[in-house]
Amino acid sequence: MTNTLLILPGDGIGPEVMAEVTRIIDWFGARRGLRFDVTEDLVGGAAYDVHGVPLADATMAKAQEVDAVLLGAVGGPKYDALDFSVKPERGLLRLRKEMDLFANLRPAQCFDALADFSSLKREVVAGLDIMIVRELTSGVYFGEPRGIFEENGERVGINTQRYTESEIDRVARAAFELARKRGNKVCSMEKANVMESGILWREVVQKVHDESYADVELSHMYADAGGMQLCRWPKQFDVIVTDNLFGDLLSDVAAMLTGSLGMLPSASLGAPMANGRPKALYEPVHGSAPDIAGQGKANPCACVLSFAMALRYSFDQGDEATRLERAVEKVLADGVRTADLMQAEGAKPVTTTGMGDAILAA
Ligand code: NAI
Ligand code: MG
Repeated sequence: MTNTLLILPGDGIGPEVMAEVTRIIDWFGARRGLRFDVTEDLVGGAAYDVHGVPLADATMAKAQEVDAVLLGAVGGPKYDALDFSVKPERGLLRLRKEMDLFANLRPAQCFDALADFSSLKREVVAGLDIMIVRELTSGVYFGEPRGIFEENGERVGINTQRYTESEIDRVARAAFELARKRGNKVCSMEKANVMESGILWREVVQKVHDESYADVELSHMYADAGGMQLCRWPKQFDVIVTDNLFGDLLSDVAAMLTGSLGMLPSASLGAPMANGRPKALYEPVHGSAPDIAGQGKANPCACVLSFAMALRYSFDQGDEATRLERAVEKVLADGVRTADLMQAEGAKPVTTTGMGDAILAA
């Protein structure tokens, strides 16, 4: 099977971090016989500058047919005054929506060398490796009715939490499948105590478990208690599955347990394509970082680790993914640090390219 990849570097530090990933992709071809058919294209402000839209139709069509899309970041002050309909972020939203990427995977993994970065005690976070699966295409960010309306002489702001059984079913399956490849444990989080959508969520997740994934350990937790438990003893979790809103909050909390924005990858997965691989978009959690763009200061690790997720989840190359993650781990253990990771004693300061060099050498 060929491995097709669409690379969308985007704006700001996007192209800088993606350049390092491109060298790593070439390394896998030359040294591991793992070849990728790579197409590069524009997204965000970069696409707007050329096409007048943040994602051209031809790019969207290409994204639908490749095995995986790898995106850098979009946005920047240059585009802040643009009309909402052509803002850079809309390019990313269009990709997520039209590819129907319903499962957002946000790992919270703590590299030992960075454990002292956490606001929590080293023993609480060292060795942490959990995965939050956030439902990404439904829930309160999309539900109707929504808007700001007049009612009894004052304004009322309305958003609606709405989930169908099939929407819950498919994200639950994604979480159970992942758990089988990890620690075989899923904790589902909602607010079934105060929300009907939460009652349905809990019922459907339990049903999917009992019918198809009885071998996986399942627990349920109210999302607010889940937030507390994440801060108290995060290692009790393996996979957490939750809705769009709670997932947005909980994944940001979990991310910060482990330190820098420059280290955090993500994947967004949809339904399987004809070749069995899921529709997939991989991107670092961080944005375009206009404050450091063009200065060689960006940490490419988040983007590199996003590519490692692509190796694992799109190309069925778990061992090669681990190889790449180990290389990042070794580099950090050796004290190699981009500016965002600089407080370590005896750190070896490097630029974006220097970090890429070190990862390749490792
Ligand atoms: P940001 O993530 O771009 O930056 C936040 C802070 O973290 C900045 O101080 C930045 O220098 C630092 N930082 C981020 N990534 C880093 C890296 N790889 N290495 C070292 N330092 C790093 O978020 P911000 O400033 O709120 O947004 C900037 C622009 O990015 C805005 O236009 C925003 O809309 C866009 N954005 C895009 C996202 C995406 O493409 N998925 C996500 C978040 C924001
Ligand atoms: Mg968020």
